[in-house]
Amino acid sequence: MNVLLIGSGGRENALAYKISQSKTLNKLFMAPGNPGTKHLGENVSIRLNDFNVVYDYCVNNEIKLVVVGPEQPLVQGISDYLRERGIKVFGPDKAAAEIEAHKSFAKKLMSDYGIPTAAYAEFNSGELNKAKDYLKVQKFPCVVKADGLAAGKGVLICNDLTEAEKAIEEIFINKIFGSSGDKLIIEEFMKGEEASIFAITDGDGYVCLPSAQDHKRIGNNDTGKNTGGMGAYSPAPIVTSEILNEVEEKIIKPTLKGLKKENRKFIGCLYCGLMLTDKGVKVVEYNCRFGDPETQAVLPLLDGDFLKLLYSAADGKLDKEAVKYTGGSAVCVVAASKGYPDSYDKGFEISGLQDVEEGIIVFHAGTKEADGKVLTNGGRVLGVTAVVKSNNLKLAKEAAYRALSNIHFEGIYYRTDIADKALMKKVMYRKPDSNRHLV
Ligand code: AMP
Ligand code: GLY
Repeated sequence: MNVLLIGSGGRENALAYKISQSKTLNKLFMAPGNPGTKHLGENVSIRLNDFNVVYDYCVNNEIKLVVVGPEQPLVQGISDYLRERGIKVFGPDKAAAEIEAHKSFAKKLMSDYGIPTAAYAEFNSGELNKAKDYLKVQKFPCVVKADGLAAGKGVLICNDLTEAEKAIEEIFINKIFGSSGDKLIIEEFMKGEEASIFAITDGDGYVCLPSAQDHKRIGNNDTGKNTGGMGAYSPAPIVTSEILNEVEEKIIKPTLKGLKKENRKFIGCLYCGLMLTDKGVKVVEYNCRFGDPETQAVLPLLDGDFLKLLYSAADGKLDKEAVKYTGGSAVCVVAASKGYPDSYDKGFEISGLQDVEEGIIVFHAGTKEADGKVLTNGGRVLGVTAVVKSNNLKLAKEAAYRALSNIHFEGIYYRTDIADKALMKKVMYRKPDSNRHLV
């Protein structure tokens, strides 16, 4: 079959890498893709915000499946548009994508269906004083979140009342998140360790891919600003089979059931961002698509036919046996531009991409090509993933950093402690480190 993959980041490079291995693939088109995907199919330029243009492209190129990488087109209803016209799509429709688009919806769903998450209250922009009154009776730190999409920046961890009051004023009065902050959530701060689980679902059945852990902060030991993700490893040993069972029973099953009951059947990848607390596993957030950079660590570990899995979900007949995890470890380290997540320069030549050792995959995120050279073109530039066959994160970590030491561009920055949380067992489940809270 011909497949159209939408998106241009490291996640999409990883999706393209895996889809391109499928025996059932005829041709993969990527819109727009990036220099890392062009060897895996054809990068094409389509006006993605005009769904009719995308539809015409699918018809003209006999596309049997559209795989949507990022949340934005899903939230805007690309799946609804294409599905209504007979094209199969891996990615939820607009109503189901609300689970990421509006935290207030996600929180209400969890509350209605008894899914464990942080206690919360929601306020709209006319309720500044009411929100401030609520803060007065909260424990700190507490968490203030914009209701809508905010490119991963809409979460403010507040250490005291003054910080929290400032946060809600910034959101409601200074509109730092624009209309995404027309409503906000004030949430209890959860202590524990985070993990990510991807559930691939046709809306009824689901399969979980190997667990992963993201590293959101820019600096080693989870210090400094939040980023889009500086690295990931998979599987996350902290997610034992006992915990995975808890996640399935208490989170994934009721979430899918709740969505279906509310006529928001979810087809795609339900991303569960989890906090493993001393009171059990709780949901930090849902995303309506694969997480990045976790995808860059999880997908290379899968045996079997990944495209078959995605197609079967889109077709409403999930093939639970299409992929298998039979062992192995993967570590992905993100190479970023100096200055990220604040401002940074672009256009530096990247060298060392040709000579990577076996077991290393260099996914492109923010790169472009000019005059036959690959140049930096974003904050997160590359995701360097090492895969080892044994269950040995240490070996995978070493291989990833060995590979990185041969890759150069001006201002290259990466964390040097990706996977250490698992390797050093700094934080154990049911014994959270009370010092670990975000600023
Ligand atoms: P989100 O955008 O919802 O994924 O939040 C970004 C990050 O903020 C999460 O990955 C957590 O590290 C942190 N966070 C969000 N909500 C909470 C919470 N209620 N308690 C503790 N940390 C949180
Ligand atoms: N890794 C977190 C995200 O994709 O939002």
